[in-house]
Amino acid sequence: MSETNATDARAALLKALPKIELHLHLEGSIQPETALALARKNNVTLPPCESPAELYAYETLDAFLAVYDAIAASVIDAADFHRITYEMLESAAGNGARYVEFFMSLGAHKNVPFERQFEGIRAGMRDAARDFQIQSAMVPGINREETPAQAEAYLDRVLANRGDDLIGIGLDYFEAPHPPEPFAAVYARAKREGLHLTAHAGEAGPAPFITGVLDVLGVERIDHGYNIMEDPALVERCRNLGVLFTCCPSTTLYTTPHKDLSAPDHPIRRMREAGLTICINSDDPPMFLTDLGNEYLNAMEQLGFSAEDISRSVYATIDNAWVDASTRARWRSEWGPEIERITAALAALD
Ligand code: HPA
Ligand code: ZN
Repeated sequence: MSETNATDARAALLKALPKIELHLHLEGSIQPETALALARKNNVTLPPCESPAELYAYETLDAFLAVYDAIAASVIDAADFHRITYEMLESAAGNGARYVEFFMSLGAHKNVPFERQFEGIRAGMRDAARDFQIQSAMVPGINREETPAQAEAYLDRVLANRGDDLIGIGLDYFEAPHPPEPFAAVYARAKREGLHLTAHAGEAGPAPFITGVLDVLGVERIDHGYNIMEDPALVERCRNLGVLFTCCPSTTLYTTPHKDLSAPDHPIRRMREAGLTICINSDDPPMFLTDLGNEYLNAMEQLGFSAEDISRSVYATIDNAWVDASTRARWRSEWGPEIERITAALAALD
């Protein structure tokens, strides 16, 4: 088989593979055409661009976050939240995702009551479940650029909208100058309230931020975590703990110094080689010109994942999703045969 045909065959198999997405931002999933349409409808000014694609052009985390905030400010009515949620889940389902735990930046929609945001998002989740057989749950992200007092007020407003579909909290936005420790109290309160905990760490910040989210915030998973490779003792510790790192290949091209996914020292490759528990996710897919199926293809074709590594990654998402044991067991038995069949077909292409 030619290389092109093998790539096409791999891409089709990886798209069909049953998957769970554990690192996806609602606002980062807005298609550029949708952002422009909502901005026009709501009279919001976006950065100037000649074409929808040009809106999503940046090279660093802070430049990306400026566009992320601008498009989030275009989402105002409950119907707008329904639309972006429905479109996000439609795309995830089209890429083989059957369950998604997604982040949302409720504070980025300036002056939009949380009740209205939750109403639209929940309606989008319900309609996507009906139309695409995809389940989903919400993980509000705390903006680390804000103060701990603002984070406490954010958590108050989140808890006022509590439901079974609101399962955890995260920590995101510009990492490097904002260590996790100031958020210890708000994380402790979220935990007492029964929420699961995760945080972006070691993406643009140093390895001690990963130690901080583990030891001070008490997270169950780590989002990104690439700079763990600066600290061999921490690698050893996390390997023994089996803590899951939600890795996002294309994001690294924008938010880290690693601009070549096929480089032998790319941190996701090194994390896999070091035996860390990692999974593949799409983060902000249209904003980083990708989708979930393509991220799995990047893992195999750029980052050196074998068919077995891909299968291990999918099972890691099943084991680490924030669902009860019976759901986990059901997924294993319902999806298992398909995962095995696709893994074998991928191995035959290697
Ligand atoms: N890093 C930090 N904050 C974010 C990201 C990210 O990759 N995506 C959306 N918000
Ligand atoms: Zn992220």
